Amino acid sequence: MDKIVVKGGPALHGEVKASGAKNAALPILASSLLADGKSTYRNVPDLVDVSTMLKVLRTMGCGAERLSETAKDVCEVTVGAGITPEAPYELVKTMRASVLVLGPLVARYGRARVSLPGGCAIGARPIDQHLKGLKALGADITLTEGYVEARAERLRGATVNFDLITVTGTENVMMAAVLAKGRTVLENCAREPEVEELARVLNKMGARIEGGGTSVITIDGVDALHPVEHAILPDRIEAGTLLVAAAISGGDVLVKHAVPEHMEAVVLKLREAGCTVTTENGGVRCKAPQTLRPVDVTTTEHPGFPTDMQAQLMVLLSVAQGTSVISEHIFENRFMHVAELHRMGADITIQGPTAVVKGVPKLSGAPVMATDLRASASLILAGLRAEGRTDVQRVYHLDRGYERLELKLRSLGADIQRMKA
Ligand code: EPZ
Repeated sequence: MDKIVVKGGPALHGEVKASGAKNAALPILASSLLADGKSTYRNVPDLVDVSTMLKVLRTMGCGAERLSETAKDVCEVTVGAGITPEAPYELVKTMRASVLVLGPLVARYGRARVSLPGGCAIGARPIDQHLKGLKALGADITLTEGYVEARAERLRGATVNFDLITVTGTENVMMAAVLAKGRTVLENCAREPEVEELARVLNKMGARIEGGGTSVITIDGVDALHPVEHAILPDRIEAGTLLVAAAISGGDVLVKHAVPEHMEAVVLKLREAGCTVTTENGGVRCKAPQTLRPVDVTTTEHPGFPTDMQAQLMVLLSVAQGTSVISEHIFENRFMHVAELHRMGADITIQGPTAVVKGVPKLSGAPVMATDLRASASLILAGLRAEGRTDVQRVYHLDRGYERLELKLRSLGADIQRMKA
Protein backbone atom coordinates (compact mmCIF):
# COMPACT_ATOMS: atom_id res chain seq x y z
CA MET A 1 0.00 0.00 0.00
CA ASP A 2 1.32 3.42 -0.93
CA LYS A 3 0.91 6.73 0.78
CA ILE A 4 1.42 10.21 -0.55
CA VAL A 5 3.44 12.67 1.52
CA VAL A 6 2.85 16.39 0.95
CA LYS A 7 4.76 19.24 2.53
CA GLY A 8 2.63 22.37 2.45
CA GLY A 9 3.81 25.76 1.31
CA PRO A 10 4.89 26.08 -2.32
CA ALA A 11 2.52 28.03 -4.57
CA LEU A 12 1.93 26.01 -7.76
CA HIS A 13 2.88 27.61 -11.05
CA GLY A 14 3.11 26.48 -14.65
CA GLU A 15 1.05 24.34 -16.95
CA VAL A 16 -0.16 20.75 -16.83
CA LYS A 17 -2.19 18.56 -19.19
CA ALA A 18 -5.53 17.06 -18.28
CA SER A 19 -5.72 13.32 -19.03
CA GLY A 20 -8.57 11.55 -20.80
CA ALA A 21 -11.82 11.36 -18.84
CA LYS A 22 -12.27 8.23 -16.68
CA ASN A 23 -16.06 8.55 -16.81
CA ALA A 24 -16.01 8.70 -20.60
CA ALA A 25 -13.45 5.92 -21.08
CA LEU A 26 -15.38 3.38 -18.99
CA PRO A 27 -18.70 3.40 -20.93
CA ILE A 28 -16.87 3.77 -24.25
CA LEU A 29 -14.73 0.71 -23.57
CA ALA A 30 -17.90 -1.20 -22.66
CA SER A 31 -19.52 -0.10 -25.93
CA SER A 32 -16.83 -2.06 -27.83
CA LEU A 33 -18.99 -5.13 -27.16
CA LEU A 34 -21.59 -3.78 -29.59
CA ALA A 35 -19.46 -4.48 -32.69
CA ASP A 36 -17.30 -7.31 -33.99
CA GLY A 37 -13.70 -6.37 -34.80
CA LYS A 38 -11.05 -4.11 -33.31
CA SER A 39 -11.78 -0.69 -31.80
CA THR A 40 -8.92 1.64 -30.97
CA TYR A 41 -9.10 4.35 -28.33
CA ARG A 42 -6.55 7.12 -27.77
CA ASN A 43 -6.04 9.43 -24.80
CA VAL A 44 -7.23 6.66 -22.48
CA PRO A 45 -6.10 7.54 -18.93
CA ASP A 46 -3.82 5.02 -17.22
CA LEU A 47 -6.08 4.33 -14.21
CA VAL A 48 -6.91 1.31 -12.09
CA ASP A 49 -10.59 1.56 -13.07
CA VAL A 50 -9.67 1.49 -16.76
CA SER A 51 -7.46 -1.58 -16.17
CA THR A 52 -10.39 -3.21 -14.39
CA MET A 53 -12.72 -2.55 -17.33
CA LEU A 54 -10.13 -4.03 -19.72
CA LYS A 55 -9.94 -7.07 -17.43
CA VAL A 56 -13.74 -7.42 -17.43
CA LEU A 57 -13.70 -7.41 -21.24
CA ARG A 58 -10.88 -9.98 -21.34
CA THR A 59 -12.78 -12.19 -18.89
CA MET A 60 -15.61 -12.28 -21.44
CA GLY A 61 -13.23 -13.37 -24.19
CA CYS A 62 -12.41 -10.03 -25.81
CA GLY A 63 -8.88 -8.91 -26.63
CA ALA A 64 -8.51 -5.80 -24.49
CA GLU A 65 -5.09 -4.28 -23.97
CA ARG A 66 -3.31 -1.02 -23.38
CA LEU A 67 -0.55 -0.74 -26.00
CA SER A 68 3.08 -0.92 -24.91
CA GLU A 69 5.19 1.94 -23.66
CA THR A 70 5.35 3.38 -27.16
CA ALA A 71 1.70 4.40 -27.08
CA LYS A 72 0.67 4.20 -23.45
CA ASP A 73 -2.52 6.18 -23.92
CA VAL A 74 -3.87 3.79 -26.58
CA CYS A 75 -6.15 0.86 -25.82
CA GLU A 76 -7.38 -1.71 -28.32
CA VAL A 77 -10.44 -3.91 -27.81
CA THR A 78 -11.08 -6.79 -30.20
CA VAL A 79 -14.44 -8.55 -30.14
CA GLY A 80 -14.85 -11.84 -31.97
CA ALA A 81 -16.78 -15.07 -31.65
CA GLY A 82 -16.97 -16.96 -28.37
CA ILE A 83 -17.87 -14.12 -26.05
CA THR A 84 -19.11 -15.22 -22.61
CA PRO A 85 -21.58 -12.51 -21.63
CA GLU A 86 -20.79 -12.54 -17.94
CA ALA A 87 -19.15 -10.09 -15.51
CA PRO A 88 -18.06 -11.84 -12.31
CA TYR A 89 -18.56 -10.59 -8.76
CA GLU A 90 -14.79 -10.59 -8.15
CA LEU A 91 -14.37 -7.81 -10.72
CA VAL A 92 -17.67 -5.95 -10.37
CA LYS A 93 -17.16 -5.58 -6.60
CA THR A 94 -13.95 -3.66 -7.33
CA MET A 95 -15.57 -1.33 -9.81
CA ARG A 96 -19.32 -0.74 -10.02
CA ALA A 97 -19.02 0.81 -13.46
CA SER A 98 -18.52 -2.76 -14.73
CA VAL A 99 -22.33 -2.81 -14.78
CA LEU A 100 -21.99 -0.79 -18.01
CA VAL A 101 -21.45 -4.06 -19.91
CA LEU A 102 -25.04 -5.08 -19.15
CA GLY A 103 -26.75 -3.04 -21.88
CA PRO A 104 -24.30 -3.93 -24.65
CA LEU A 105 -24.37 -7.65 -23.77
CA VAL A 106 -28.17 -7.94 -23.78
CA ALA A 107 -28.40 -5.95 -27.01
CA ARG A 108 -25.71 -7.91 -28.83
CA TYR A 109 -25.94 -11.45 -27.39
CA GLY A 110 -29.48 -11.59 -26.09
CA ARG A 111 -28.30 -12.44 -22.61
CA ALA A 112 -26.08 -11.22 -19.79
CA ARG A 113 -25.13 -12.30 -16.31
CA VAL A 114 -23.61 -9.43 -14.38
CA SER A 115 -22.96 -9.25 -10.67
CA LEU A 116 -25.07 -6.67 -8.90
CA PRO A 117 -22.64 -3.96 -7.85
CA GLY A 118 -22.68 -3.70 -4.07
CA GLY A 119 -22.97 -0.39 -2.34
CA CYS A 120 -19.89 1.69 -1.98
CA ALA A 121 -18.46 4.17 0.47
CA ILE A 122 -20.43 7.11 -0.89
CA GLY A 123 -23.84 5.48 -1.01
CA ALA A 124 -26.10 2.53 -1.79
CA ARG A 125 -26.03 3.37 -5.51
CA PRO A 126 -28.71 0.94 -6.70
CA ILE A 127 -29.19 0.19 -10.40
CA ASP A 128 -32.98 0.00 -10.44
CA GLN A 129 -33.19 2.58 -13.23
CA HIS A 130 -30.77 0.60 -15.41
CA LEU A 131 -33.03 -2.46 -15.00
CA LYS A 132 -36.22 -0.43 -15.51
CA GLY A 133 -34.88 0.73 -18.88
CA LEU A 134 -33.79 -2.73 -20.01
CA LYS A 135 -37.16 -4.20 -19.01
CA ALA A 136 -38.93 -1.49 -21.01
CA LEU A 137 -36.89 -2.58 -24.03
CA GLY A 138 -38.18 -6.12 -23.55
CA ALA A 139 -35.42 -7.75 -21.51
CA ASP A 140 -36.45 -10.41 -19.01
CA ILE A 141 -34.57 -9.56 -15.82
CA THR A 142 -34.06 -11.90 -12.85
CA LEU A 143 -31.87 -11.44 -9.77
CA THR A 144 -30.30 -14.66 -8.54
CA GLU A 145 -27.43 -15.15 -6.07
CA GLY A 146 -26.35 -11.52 -6.34
CA TYR A 147 -26.34 -11.57 -10.12
CA VAL A 148 -28.53 -9.79 -12.62
CA GLU A 149 -29.57 -12.20 -15.37
CA ALA A 150 -31.00 -10.50 -18.43
CA ARG A 151 -32.40 -12.22 -21.51
CA ALA A 152 -34.07 -10.99 -24.69
CA GLU A 153 -34.60 -12.48 -28.13
CA ARG A 154 -34.22 -9.01 -29.61
CA LEU A 155 -34.79 -5.79 -27.73
CA ARG A 156 -37.62 -3.61 -28.99
CA GLY A 157 -37.64 0.20 -29.01
CA ALA A 158 -39.69 1.84 -26.24
CA THR A 159 -40.12 5.07 -24.34
CA VAL A 160 -38.30 5.17 -21.00
CA ASN A 161 -38.79 7.98 -18.52
CA PHE A 162 -36.11 7.71 -15.83
CA ASP A 163 -37.50 8.28 -12.32
CA LEU A 164 -34.27 10.07 -11.47
CA ILE A 165 -31.31 11.32 -13.42
CA THR A 166 -28.61 8.66 -13.62
CA VAL A 167 -25.39 8.95 -15.62
CA THR A 168 -24.53 5.27 -16.10
CA GLY A 169 -28.23 4.38 -16.19
CA THR A 170 -28.66 6.67 -19.20
CA GLU A 171 -25.52 5.22 -20.77
CA ASN A 172 -26.47 1.57 -20.16
CA VAL A 173 -29.96 1.88 -21.64
CA MET A 174 -28.75 4.01 -24.56
CA MET A 175 -26.22 1.31 -25.45
CA ALA A 176 -28.91 -1.35 -25.25
CA ALA A 177 -31.25 0.64 -27.49
CA VAL A 178 -28.82 1.09 -30.39
CA LEU A 179 -29.44 -2.51 -31.55
CA ALA A 180 -33.11 -2.69 -30.52
CA LYS A 181 -35.79 -2.99 -33.19
CA GLY A 182 -37.43 0.37 -33.77
CA ARG A 183 -37.25 3.71 -32.01
CA THR A 184 -36.40 4.30 -28.35
CA VAL A 185 -37.00 7.61 -26.61
CA LEU A 186 -35.19 8.13 -23.30
CA GLU A 187 -36.54 10.96 -21.14
CA ASN A 188 -35.09 12.61 -18.03
CA CYS A 189 -31.58 11.60 -19.16
CA ALA A 190 -28.27 12.65 -17.65
CA ARG A 191 -26.71 15.50 -19.61
CA GLU A 192 -23.06 15.01 -18.59
CA PRO A 193 -20.47 15.61 -21.34
CA GLU A 194 -19.47 11.94 -20.95
CA VAL A 195 -22.99 10.87 -21.98
CA GLU A 196 -22.77 13.12 -25.02
CA GLU A 197 -19.33 11.68 -25.83
CA LEU A 198 -20.67 8.11 -25.63
CA ALA A 199 -23.51 8.99 -28.02
CA ARG A 200 -20.92 10.50 -30.37
CA VAL A 201 -18.85 7.31 -30.31
CA LEU A 202 -21.91 5.09 -30.85
CA ASN A 203 -22.92 7.20 -33.86
CA LYS A 204 -19.38 6.82 -35.24
CA MET A 205 -19.98 3.06 -34.91
CA GLY A 206 -23.13 3.33 -37.05
CA ALA A 207 -25.79 3.99 -34.44
CA ARG A 208 -28.55 6.52 -35.00
CA ILE A 209 -28.78 8.64 -31.86
CA GLU A 210 -30.02 12.18 -31.47
CA GLY A 211 -30.00 14.31 -28.35
CA GLY A 212 -26.93 12.87 -26.61
CA GLY A 213 -26.09 15.30 -23.78
CA THR A 214 -29.67 16.57 -23.54
CA SER A 215 -32.46 15.26 -21.33
CA VAL A 216 -34.26 13.53 -24.24
CA ILE A 217 -32.30 11.01 -26.32
CA THR A 218 -33.84 9.36 -29.38
CA ILE A 219 -32.31 6.16 -30.72
CA ASP A 220 -33.39 4.46 -33.95
CA GLY A 221 -32.18 0.87 -33.69
CA VAL A 222 -29.89 -0.58 -36.37
CA ASP A 223 -29.00 -4.21 -37.13
CA ALA A 224 -25.27 -3.96 -36.58
CA LEU A 225 -22.48 -1.57 -35.62
CA HIS A 226 -18.85 -1.48 -36.73
CA PRO A 227 -15.70 -0.88 -34.67
CA VAL A 228 -14.38 2.62 -34.09
CA GLU A 229 -11.27 4.73 -33.60
CA HIS A 230 -11.71 7.53 -31.08
CA ALA A 231 -9.77 9.88 -28.81
CA ILE A 232 -11.31 10.22 -25.32
CA LEU A 233 -12.28 13.74 -24.25
CA PRO A 234 -10.36 15.43 -21.39
CA ASP A 235 -11.32 14.78 -17.78
CA ARG A 236 -13.26 17.79 -16.46
CA ILE A 237 -13.06 16.55 -12.86
CA GLU A 238 -9.30 16.07 -12.93
CA ALA A 239 -9.02 19.49 -14.57
CA GLY A 240 -11.19 21.03 -11.85
CA THR A 241 -9.08 19.35 -9.18
CA LEU A 242 -5.91 20.88 -10.70
CA LEU A 243 -7.52 24.34 -10.79
CA VAL A 244 -8.33 24.01 -7.08
CA ALA A 245 -4.70 23.02 -6.46
CA ALA A 246 -3.67 26.36 -7.97
CA ALA A 247 -6.27 28.23 -5.93
CA ILE A 248 -5.51 26.65 -2.56
CA SER A 249 -1.73 26.96 -2.91
CA GLY A 250 -1.85 30.64 -3.88
CA GLY A 251 -0.55 29.84 -7.34
CA ASP A 252 -1.28 30.31 -11.03
CA VAL A 253 -1.76 27.22 -13.20
CA LEU A 254 -2.89 26.56 -16.78
CA VAL A 255 -4.62 23.19 -17.25
CA LYS A 256 -4.18 22.38 -20.92
CA HIS A 257 -6.83 20.44 -22.86
CA ALA A 258 -9.45 21.33 -20.21
CA VAL A 259 -12.73 22.14 -21.98
CA PRO A 260 -14.27 25.28 -20.41
CA GLU A 261 -17.77 24.44 -21.67
CA HIS A 262 -17.63 21.20 -19.67
CA MET A 263 -16.79 22.87 -16.39
CA GLU A 264 -18.75 26.13 -16.27
CA ALA A 265 -20.29 25.49 -12.84
CA VAL A 266 -16.85 24.83 -11.33
CA VAL A 267 -15.29 27.86 -13.04
CA LEU A 268 -18.10 30.12 -11.81
CA LYS A 269 -17.69 28.91 -8.21
CA LEU A 270 -13.92 29.45 -8.33
CA ARG A 271 -14.51 32.99 -9.61
CA GLU A 272 -17.11 33.55 -6.86
CA ALA A 273 -14.42 32.51 -4.36
CA GLY A 274 -12.17 35.21 -5.77
CA CYS A 275 -10.03 33.29 -8.27
CA THR A 276 -9.17 34.71 -11.66
CA VAL A 277 -10.18 31.93 -14.07
CA THR A 278 -9.61 32.45 -17.77
CA THR A 279 -9.74 30.41 -20.94
CA GLU A 280 -6.55 30.57 -22.94
CA ASN A 281 -4.56 28.65 -25.56
CA GLY A 282 -6.43 25.38 -25.35
CA GLY A 283 -6.98 25.25 -21.66
CA VAL A 284 -8.31 26.85 -18.50
CA ARG A 285 -6.12 28.94 -16.19
CA CYS A 286 -6.67 29.66 -12.49
CA LYS A 287 -4.87 32.39 -10.55
CA ALA A 288 -5.37 32.40 -6.81
CA PRO A 289 -6.61 35.52 -4.99
CA GLN A 290 -4.90 37.06 -1.99
CA THR A 291 -7.93 36.13 0.10
CA LEU A 292 -10.46 33.43 -0.69
CA ARG A 293 -14.10 34.36 -0.29
CA PRO A 294 -16.75 31.94 1.09
CA VAL A 295 -19.34 30.61 -1.36
CA ASP A 296 -22.45 28.42 -1.03
CA VAL A 297 -22.79 25.42 -3.34
CA THR A 298 -25.27 22.62 -3.97
CA THR A 299 -24.26 19.59 -6.00
CA THR A 300 -26.74 18.72 -8.73
CA GLU A 301 -26.75 16.89 -12.04
CA HIS A 302 -24.88 18.45 -14.98
CA PRO A 303 -24.79 21.30 -15.87
CA GLY A 304 -25.04 22.00 -12.13
CA PHE A 305 -22.08 21.80 -9.76
CA PRO A 306 -20.68 18.24 -9.97
CA THR A 307 -20.71 16.03 -6.88
CA ASP A 308 -17.28 14.78 -7.98
CA MET A 309 -15.88 18.25 -7.23
CA GLN A 310 -17.60 18.70 -3.85
CA ALA A 311 -14.76 17.47 -1.64
CA GLN A 312 -12.18 19.48 -3.54
CA LEU A 313 -14.18 22.72 -3.27
CA MET A 314 -14.82 22.05 0.43
CA VAL A 315 -11.09 21.97 1.11
CA LEU A 316 -10.64 25.28 -0.69
CA LEU A 317 -13.47 26.86 1.31
CA SER A 318 -12.05 25.50 4.57
CA VAL A 319 -9.43 28.29 4.35
CA ALA A 320 -11.70 31.02 2.93
CA GLN A 321 -12.40 34.15 4.93
CA GLY A 322 -15.94 33.43 6.10
CA THR A 323 -18.54 30.68 6.24
CA SER A 324 -19.68 28.56 3.28
CA VAL A 325 -22.60 26.12 3.06
CA ILE A 326 -22.18 23.01 0.92
CA SER A 327 -25.19 20.77 0.15
CA GLU A 328 -24.64 17.31 -1.34
CA HIS A 329 -27.78 16.35 -3.26
CA ILE A 330 -26.49 13.42 -5.32
CA PHE A 331 -25.05 10.89 -2.86
CA GLU A 332 -26.17 10.20 0.68
CA ASN A 333 -22.75 9.72 2.22
CA ARG A 334 -20.19 11.87 0.49
CA PHE A 335 -18.80 13.80 3.45
CA MET A 336 -16.30 11.19 4.68
CA HIS A 337 -13.41 13.54 3.96
CA VAL A 338 -14.76 15.89 6.67
CA ALA A 339 -13.52 13.78 9.61
CA GLU A 340 -10.05 13.72 8.06
CA LEU A 341 -10.11 17.47 7.42
CA HIS A 342 -11.05 18.01 11.08
CA ARG A 343 -7.73 16.36 11.95
CA MET A 344 -6.00 19.04 9.90
CA GLY A 345 -7.78 21.83 11.76
CA ALA A 346 -10.73 22.48 9.44
CA ASP A 347 -13.91 23.80 11.08
CA ILE A 348 -16.77 21.95 9.34
CA THR A 349 -20.14 20.97 10.80
CA ILE A 350 -22.34 18.40 9.07
CA GLN A 351 -26.12 18.76 9.26
CA GLY A 352 -27.62 15.93 7.19
CA PRO A 353 -26.88 16.61 3.49
CA THR A 354 -25.33 19.97 4.38
CA ALA A 355 -21.85 20.92 5.56
CA VAL A 356 -21.23 24.33 7.15
CA VAL A 357 -17.61 25.25 6.45
CA LYS A 358 -16.15 28.01 8.65
CA GLY A 359 -12.91 29.22 7.10
CA VAL A 360 -9.83 28.93 9.34
CA PRO A 361 -6.58 30.88 9.02
CA LYS A 362 -4.54 27.74 8.53
CA LEU A 363 -4.57 23.96 8.23
CA SER A 364 -1.99 21.76 9.91
CA GLY A 365 -0.39 18.73 8.32
CA ALA A 366 -1.36 15.33 9.75
CA PRO A 367 -1.55 11.65 8.84
CA VAL A 368 -4.98 11.20 7.15
CA MET A 369 -6.89 8.37 5.49
CA ALA A 370 -8.43 8.42 2.03
CA THR A 371 -11.93 6.90 1.96
CA ASP A 372 -13.01 7.31 -1.65
CA LEU A 373 -11.67 8.59 -4.92
CA ARG A 374 -12.44 12.30 -4.70
CA ALA A 375 -11.87 12.47 -0.95
CA SER A 376 -8.31 11.24 -1.50
CA ALA A 377 -7.69 14.06 -3.98
CA SER A 378 -9.14 16.60 -1.54
CA LEU A 379 -6.78 15.47 1.23
CA ILE A 380 -3.81 16.01 -1.06
CA LEU A 381 -5.13 19.50 -1.86
CA ALA A 382 -5.39 20.17 1.88
CA GLY A 383 -1.79 19.03 2.26
CA LEU A 384 -0.65 21.59 -0.32
CA ARG A 385 -1.97 24.34 1.97
CA ALA A 386 -1.33 22.87 5.40
CA GLU A 387 1.65 23.85 7.50
CA GLY A 388 3.95 20.86 7.85
CA ARG A 389 3.66 17.34 6.52
CA THR A 390 0.53 15.46 5.50
CA ASP A 391 0.64 11.71 4.90
CA VAL A 392 -2.37 10.54 2.87
CA GLN A 393 -2.85 6.80 3.40
CA ARG A 394 -4.75 4.32 1.21
CA VAL A 395 -4.01 6.10 -2.04
CA TYR A 396 -5.29 3.11 -3.98
CA HIS A 397 -8.51 5.12 -3.93
CA LEU A 398 -6.69 7.94 -5.74
CA ASP A 399 -5.18 5.62 -8.35
CA ARG A 400 -8.65 4.53 -9.43
CA GLY A 401 -9.37 7.91 -10.95
CA TYR A 402 -6.28 10.12 -11.17
CA GLU A 403 -3.35 9.50 -13.49
CA ARG A 404 -0.16 10.12 -11.48
CA LEU A 405 -1.61 13.18 -9.71
CA GLU A 406 1.46 13.54 -7.50
CA LEU A 407 3.73 13.80 -10.56
CA LYS A 408 1.50 16.43 -12.11
CA LEU A 409 1.48 18.45 -8.88
CA ARG A 410 5.25 18.04 -8.47
CA SER A 411 5.75 19.37 -12.01
CA LEU A 412 3.96 22.51 -10.81
CA GLY A 413 6.27 22.93 -7.82
CA ALA A 414 4.53 20.93 -5.09
CA ASP A 415 6.67 19.20 -2.46
CA ILE A 416 4.99 15.82 -2.85
CA GLN A 417 6.02 12.20 -3.19
CA ARG A 418 4.61 8.71 -3.20
CA MET A 419 6.09 6.32 -0.64
CA LYS A 420 5.49 2.84 0.64
CA ALA A 421 3.07 3.18 3.55
C1 EPZ B 1 -21.55 8.42 -12.29
O1 EPZ B 1 -21.88 7.43 -11.35
C2 EPZ B 1 -20.06 8.65 -12.15
N1 EPZ B 1 -19.35 7.40 -12.48
C3 EPZ B 1 -19.75 9.09 -10.72
O2 EPZ B 1 -18.35 9.37 -10.66
C4 EPZ B 1 -20.52 10.38 -10.44
O3 EPZ B 1 -20.28 10.77 -9.11
C5 EPZ B 1 -22.02 10.14 -10.66
O4 EPZ B 1 -22.24 9.65 -12.00
C6 EPZ B 1 -22.85 11.39 -10.47
O5 EPZ B 1 -22.40 12.36 -11.34
C7 EPZ B 1 -19.21 7.06 -13.77
O6 EPZ B 1 -19.68 7.73 -14.67
C8 EPZ B 1 -18.45 5.79 -14.04
P1 EPZ B 1 -25.74 8.05 -10.95
P2 EPZ B 1 -23.33 6.74 -11.42
O7 EPZ B 1 -26.36 6.81 -11.47
O8 EPZ B 1 -23.81 6.66 -12.80
C9 EPZ B 1 -28.99 7.14 -7.65
C10 EPZ B 1 -16.25 9.39 -9.69
O9 EPZ B 1 -15.84 9.92 -8.65
N2 EPZ B 1 -29.39 6.05 -8.54
O10 EPZ B 1 -25.82 9.28 -11.76
O11 EPZ B 1 -23.25 5.47 -10.64
C11 EPZ B 1 -27.60 6.95 -7.07
O12 EPZ B 1 -27.67 6.18 -5.90
C12 EPZ B 1 -17.55 8.64 -9.70
O13 EPZ B 1 -15.66 9.44 -10.81
C13 EPZ B 1 -30.50 5.27 -8.21
O14 EPZ B 1 -31.13 5.46 -7.16
O15 EPZ B 1 -24.21 7.78 -10.63
C14 EPZ B 1 -27.16 8.37 -6.81
O16 EPZ B 1 -27.67 8.78 -5.57
C15 EPZ B 1 -18.16 8.57 -8.32
N3 EPZ B 1 -30.87 4.26 -9.04
C16 EPZ B 1 -27.83 9.16 -7.92
O17 EPZ B 1 -28.89 8.34 -8.41
C17 EPZ B 1 -30.20 4.00 -10.22
O18 EPZ B 1 -30.61 3.07 -10.95
C18 EPZ B 1 -26.92 9.50 -9.09
O19 EPZ B 1 -26.30 8.29 -9.47
C19 EPZ B 1 -29.10 4.80 -10.54
C20 EPZ B 1 -28.72 5.82 -9.69
